[in-house]
Amino acid sequence: MEIENGYKCWLRYKNVEDQSVLSSYKSFCRNITVTKTSDIINYALDELIDGISSMCSIIPTVTDEFVEEAGLVIGTGSKIIDIVGKEAFESLDEEGYMIKTFKSKIAIAGKSDLGILYGVFHFLRILQSEKSITNLDITENPQNKIRMIDHWDNLDGTIERGYAGNSIFYKDNKVSFDQIRIKDYARLLSSIGINAISLNNVNVHENEMKLITKTYLSDIAKIADIFRNYGIKIFLSVNFASPTYIGKLLTSDPLDFSVKDWWKEKVREIYEYIPDFGGFLVKADSEYTSGPFAYGRTHADGANTIAQALGQFGGLLIWRAFVYKMQDWRDRKTDRAKAAYEFFKPLDGKFLDNVILQIKNGPMDFQVREPVSPLFGAMESTNQMLELQITQEYTGHQIDLCYLVPQWKEVFDFDTYAAGRGSKVSDVVSGKTFKRPYGGVAGVSNVGDDPNWTGHSLAQSNLYGFGRLAWNPNLSSEDITNEWVKLTFGKDPVVVKTISEMLLSSWRIYESYTSPLGVGWMVNPGVHYGPNVDGYEYSKWGTYHYADHESIGVDRTKATGTDFISQYRPDVAEIYESLEKCPDELLLFFHHVPYTHRLKSGKTVIQHIYDSHFDGVEKVIEMKEKWIGLKDHVDQIIFDEVLERFELQLKNAIEWCDEINTYFFRKSGIKDRLGRKIN
Ligand code: GCU
Repeated sequence: MEIENGYKCWLRYKNVEDQSVLSSYKSFCRNITVTKTSDIINYALDELIDGISSMCSIIPTVTDEFVEEAGLVIGTGSKIIDIVGKEAFESLDEEGYMIKTFKSKIAIAGKSDLGILYGVFHFLRILQSEKSITNLDITENPQNKIRMIDHWDNLDGTIERGYAGNSIFYKDNKVSFDQIRIKDYARLLSSIGINAISLNNVNVHENEMKLITKTYLSDIAKIADIFRNYGIKIFLSVNFASPTYIGKLLTSDPLDFSVKDWWKEKVREIYEYIPDFGGFLVKADSEYTSGPFAYGRTHADGANTIAQALGQFGGLLIWRAFVYKMQDWRDRKTDRAKAAYEFFKPLDGKFLDNVILQIKNGPMDFQVREPVSPLFGAMESTNQMLELQITQEYTGHQIDLCYLVPQWKEVFDFDTYAAGRGSKVSDVVSGKTFKRPYGGVAGVSNVGDDPNWTGHSLAQSNLYGFGRLAWNPNLSSEDITNEWVKLTFGKDPVVVKTISEMLLSSWRIYESYTSPLGVGWMVNPGVHYGPNVDGYEYSKWGTYHYADHESIGVDRTKATGTDFISQYRPDVAEIYESLEKCPDELLLFFHHVPYTHRLKSGKTVIQHIYDSHFDGVEKVIEMKEKWIGLKDHVDQIIFDEVLERFELQLKNAIEWCDEINTYFFRKSGIKDRLGRKIN
């Protein structure tokens, strides 16, 4: 028997066990008619044949002509359109697809090759779940045009905030990759609908700046060749000061003509190597990166010069809104949470149409809990994209289990009130709310060269969930989770129930022992793992809890605080401004209150801190026990690796509990109501 180490992720294509389902699959899948050929369709067909032969133990025959027998029909063309219905077919989006059973045939139809590929992956997902295929009638269109993965990989092979080994693209300052692995990665990404990938860190250091030079472009083009077959476009992160650094110009001033020409020429050269190059991702004027401010220019000036160069070839410029200034703790009015809005809101309407502003989900930085960024919905005339962090920087380093789909769902579902009630973030970023030409979602990758891609095998669920939500943010957390567990571990009900429950509760468990009531950043500086209550407090990066002997929290109210709250639309601001209405889990993000303040839960703030930390440890023990209970139900290697991580997670949770509770006991002098031992 093949030993499973997690490499295949959710594309395991295990034997179908249910015999009646299997015989129905065999009769539908014996024959495949393909009405069109292209590279993408050939790869789709390979996937389909592999999947069917592995799951059903038959090798389907493939023809390009319609046959009378039962079978699958994939492609476009009149016969397929007859099966799926003309009107429905016409209404498909470019990347959408239909899967329909008609008598003894199943059609997988799409307007584009990519739509057909996505349809094939969906069909394989159905087979993997052993669902009936006798009555399929599925129409799917992606809700977001851009569904992107951002790698923070460096040319030396390291990955910024990577917790699953080294880069799969680079080593020793060279582009260096295993073709099969990259192809498998492309398959994984495409199976969940990803259509764009940025190949290097947003912090573009000296070596990586050269990725857009002839020295590296032919190698990058080889990566692009592999991804192209799966409908995934390549993007590169570039340094704003490239004209100076690699072009040897005297300036990188975006309004200087020589700089404009330099970008145009550079882009032209890139398109010679990669004709369908996606575009650039830029982190400018942020955490010591160069940017337009150095030349007294705005971010619109900076973005537009590069976007114009890309525009000649249909390329896109993704410009990050993660811009803030270093702080002096004595200055109580400057608030890092306010920065992105203050910089970008005045620029609304000033960006070219191929510029997309990539905004992190929260106003701070991928914390375990923070409110949704008020910038969503604040810029009616600017393309926006949501940036999520799949890699677990502040959420447990892929040592602790922290399944982020429930967190992301809260972000997508958040009502900005940007165009009245019901203006969800998902509609703002898809471009629907303000009818923008571009929009989408990007996720910072959690993948490295570990055999199972993500270090913690269960962290694969975050990558899977990200893709599924980027395709359709309306899917429920429960459905995505169930789907992932079944595809990855099979449909044993004990396994499905146990792992699904563990995943769905894990974010709140992680929150309970690390981030009470919306306080973030109590982590060891730099690494961002393990407790350090004052690690970042009163630092140049910001001040995050302001705890003294009486009270805690950051006052961001209009009445007495930094007035960050006014950046939200009035209906939202009113809730956060009010101590009574503000949700408990964000209370200390918005308000500074005494430890004796009573929460909606009825507990005082200090008692909540004690309880949630003790409780977090208990819950981690429970998760570990549940996992041990699955010993005979999951593959040995995966079982052992995950168990090892639960042991580390437990150590971590205990350390957090000790540190946080001790700190606040000493600071407040208030005893735990339950008299538990606090050091
Ligand atoms: C965080 C992270 C950095 C990263 C930055 C970014 O601050 O710690 O490593 O570069 O986000 O998103 O640009």
